[in-house]
Amino acid sequence: MRIDIITCLPKLIESPFQHSILNRAEEKGIAKVVIHDLRDYAQNKHKQVDDYAYGGGAGMVLMIEPISRCIDDLKSQRAYDEIIYMSPDGELFDQKMANQLSLKKNLIILCGHYKGVDERVRQHIITKEISIGNYVLSGGELAAAVISDAVIRLLPGVLNDETSALSDSFQDNLVAPPVYTRPADFNGLKVPDVLMSGHEAKINEWRHDQAVERTKKRRPGMMEE
Ligand code: ADE
Repeated sequence: MRIDIITCLPKLIESPFQHSILNRAEEKGIAKVVIHDLRDYAQNKHKQVDDYAYGGGAGMVLMIEPISRCIDDLKSQRAYDEIIYMSPDGELFDQKMANQLSLKKNLIILCGHYKGVDERVRQHIITKEISIGNYVLSGGELAAAVISDAVIRLLPGVLNDETSALSDSFQDNLVAPPVYTRPADFNGLKVPDVLMSGHEAKINEWRHDQAVERTKKRRPGMMEE
């Protein structure tokens, strides 16, 4: 899978892809994330990518020209499955959408900034708008990192133990059961006996029951979905 991220703040989004699972995915050749500085596509002297809003009002708006130029350039090199715009009023991101996106081959993610992006970009260039929650971030960069992480970790071979993404919270409409590690007894706080029993079937049954209980308590409604 390849993800091209377009931003006017490339430094803000580089780091998450240089560590841990995302970095490993890249090293294994499973995922490639390429970050593009929108300013490289500005044609004016000052590399300006935003301007005042027509009609007035506070805040700058990202201009269509550099965005169109950047996306045309990418599209001339390969076909893209989706051209995503990160926006607080987009479709709410969840595990189901992460699963769907993990089946795609090439994605573009455009990060908004300032007051947003010229509406003609959203109307004519973007194919999907995604929000990571009902709150407003300073820009789409952190949101793009969140969805890239959630998607890339699902790709086969990224996680060492391939079953571990399958047992994530939300994958089967259940949150994950509790987990424990050493010591077995911390100042009288004991690990449940069943986990020490070595009885695999009983352990699996206990984990499933715990997941069901937790889901009822923390995400009532999720099991009905
Ligand atoms: N940009 C600003 N806020 C956002 C959000 N909540 N989700 C996605 N992109 C955003």
